[in-house]
Amino acid sequence: MGIWLEGKPLADKIKEDIRQQAVYFQQATGKVPGLAAVLVGDNRASQVYVRSKEKACQALGLFSEVQVYPGDISQAFLEKKIDELNRRDEVDGILVQLPLPAHIDSYAIICSLSPDKDVDGLHPFSLGTILTNRVGFRPCTPLGVVEILKENRIPIEGRDVVVIGRSILVGKSLAAMLTNENGTVTVCHSKTKDLGRVCSRADILVAAMGKEVFVKPEFVKPGATVIDVGINSVSDPARVKAYFGEDERRQKDLQSKGYTLVGDVHPAAFERAGAMTPVPGGIGPLTIAMLMKNTLDAFKRRRGIKTPPS
Ligand code: GUN
Repeated sequence: MGIWLEGKPLADKIKEDIRQQAVYFQQATGKVPGLAAVLVGDNRASQVYVRSKEKACQALGLFSEVQVYPGDISQAFLEKKIDELNRRDEVDGILVQLPLPAHIDSYAIICSLSPDKDVDGLHPFSLGTILTNRVGFRPCTPLGVVEILKENRIPIEGRDVVVIGRSILVGKSLAAMLTNENGTVTVCHSKTKDLGRVCSRADILVAAMGKEVFVKPEFVKPGATVIDVGINSVSDPARVKAYFGEDERRQKDLQSKGYTLVGDVHPAAFERAGAMTPVPGGIGPLTIAMLMKNTLDAFKRRRGIKTPPS
């Protein structure tokens, strides 16, 4: 049995540092870092995500603006709105919440962002800076994964790392970032043969494919570090029992909210792991903290500020 790698205390520490820097910049320059979020349509999950990003900005004293548009807006209209945000001085970061409606070409929209304001790290220029190992914005969830490994002094260099999932938002970007850290990285996906055997070689195993408890305890090498990026909602009491036994907190979740959250890793994998991120409370809180950090970095880069005040 290992230790839990809690994300919340680290996220709180990162956010407190950002808050203090925002106070400093407000006093020194009259300006604070600013984030604009663009939300199109009425996807409930997207509304919740955007609201939590807005609340995080407000709590840290950052400028925040949310632009909400109906689901039937045109490509040209949305590109015009992005262009306006690209030109506004008080907006350091722009986030276009995904998914966009099906008639919108999401790739063209992401390409229309100014790379200096791409705090989500999804513009092809930002992604290119990962492969070339240059300064640039990194997607927030992979940044959170690297941050939690470093904070807990879990070495990456020379270790066997297995990443399950090959999305741009997480798996592919993270694999390149961990390669830059000198890990020996294998990327697995739905066509990988004998996934369990590949995973069982990993010193660091990252699950990021969005499939409830897909990673079974026997996939985990004893003592390995397990990073669970998945967030899945389970409301079926039989499945909750199968995953968590009689765990009181999970039963309470079921009674009060009608669901509990589970990752892509079976909770019993904790018995074999050396360290593992919990769900909820692991990588989730770090994603928003890293978005705030990217927004602060965008503010500094646009103004040529190299060193943070101490
Ligand atoms: N949809 C789900 N996750 C994300 C994210 O990290 N960024 C954006 N823009 N949209 C998302």
